[in-house]
Amino acid sequence: MKKIIVSVALLTATLSFAGEQFAMSDADRAMYTEMLENNPAEIYVEEGGEFLEEIGGEAALAKFLDVSEDDLPKYIAGFPRYVEKLGMVIGTDQVLQALMASQDKKPYKLKSKDMFAMSSYVKSLANDEKVAIDVNANDHMKAAYKLGKEVYETKRGGRGLACLSCHSADIVGSVLRTQPLPDLGKAGAGATWPAYRMTKSSLRTLQRRFQGCMKNALLAVLPIGSKEMVALEVYVTDLAKKADQTIAIPGLKR
Ligand code: HEC
Repeated sequence: MKKIIVSVALLTATLSFAGEQFAMSDADRAMYTEMLENNPAEIYVEEGGEFLEEIGGEAALAKFLDVSEDDLPKYIAGFPRYVEKLGMVIGTDQVLQALMASQDKKPYKLKSKDMFAMSSYVKSLANDEKVAIDVNANDHMKAAYKLGKEVYETKRGGRGLACLSCHSADIVGSVLRTQPLPDLGKAGAGATWPAYRMTKSSLRTLQRRFQGCMKNALLAVLPIGSKEMVALEVYVTDLAKKADQTIAIPGLKR
């Protein structure tokens, strides 16, 4: 317990409450403005559409999910969700793996660029829809939400930090090593990932972004697609829903 208090004190000491600190240089800001008009990730998302085409396109995906093609965008806006035929709460990437497996194709790895591209394309089908996750839809979703909240709030790792240590309402807006701490609901994390991450020059998914924070904050990095990671995605996506966010893929992030 003592250790935890000390590490939180250390964290607070590295935070600056000075307010007007910029997360980007002027040059970076100019690049960001330009990329907003021409997101470099569009091309990967498009490529993801071609990968989906190879396994039957939207028609095959809709059929696999037992929804009509017309309803697909709204349905996608509700992920992660409990998919009965797969018996678990699941993200679109794992649905795509199951779809590929059902066609006797070797599924893309969850961490692969091809999967990032294809799952980004699938989420982009829900662009302009409100985030529609329903964490009370059934007991499976309720359990996933509860687990996600627990992962989000549990302090772990060498510095005894939780996601909440940096992303809680009383600390957001303050600055950690020149980076403002974002409110994940207002930042629309659940609505704007997959995104092009400028500092990594690549298209990344929300779970991949979680891993970045885990690594930086010295928390054990949870595997993409694990029950805990999907639960965390459920929790963070619900924050975006509560903030009334609209899906816009690919996002553009520092
Ligand atoms: C030590 C502080 C710290 C901890 C702990 C931390 N984060 Fe972060 N997080 C940050 C900072 C700072 C940024 C913004 C960085 C940037 O702009 O590059 C960020 C950004 C993010 C983003 C992107 C937000 C956006 O703009 O869409 C997500 C998602 C996120 N964190 C999730 C998590 C999760 C989940 C955890 C727990 C596993 C976590 N973070 C733990 C500091 C932290």
